[in-house]
Amino acid sequence: MPKPHLVDLQILRDTAGFIGVVEGQELLPFDVKRFYFIGDVLPGAVRGSHAHKTLDQLIIAVSGSVTIELDDGREVEEFTLAGPSSGLVVPPGYWRTLRDFAAHTVVGVLASATYDETDYIRDYDDFLEWAHGR
Ligand code: TYD
Repeated sequence: MPKPHLVDLQILRDTAGFIGVVEGQELLPFDVKRFYFIGDVLPGAVRGSHAHKTLDQLIIAVSGSVTIELDDGREVEEFTLAGPSSGLVVPPGYWRTLRDFAAHTVVGVLASATYDETDYIRDYDDFLEWAHGR
């Protein structure tokens, strides 16, 4: 099974700011069907708390920083995205928790499919049952 991992993103910086680029099979090992973004997260708020059965994602802290905890039902791994120069590839089957958002953080997510509620597992016990039956 593919593992979550950090990838370096291309940041083109000049005196007027930066452009971040995400392209190529290595950074994006799936066809992108959707881009969504998360912002205005209140201090202390937690997002996520679900898993996806089939969805691949690349998560980027376009601005600010966030900590992402990934749980495959056996082990928990934690990643911190502290800016736009790295992204987190999240394969299907991970219970994710996004927390410790810095003020004004904007998180962008590239995803392999359009929104489909039937792809979500939103109950942790259901997730454990699903993960252990895989
Ligand atoms: P959810 O994926 O649970 O957000 P988070 O993990 O950041 O807490 O989605 C929150 C709500 O937004 C939920 O009602 C579904 C809706 N939503 C869409 O309609 N389309 C989308 O692409 C996404 C990501 C969420």
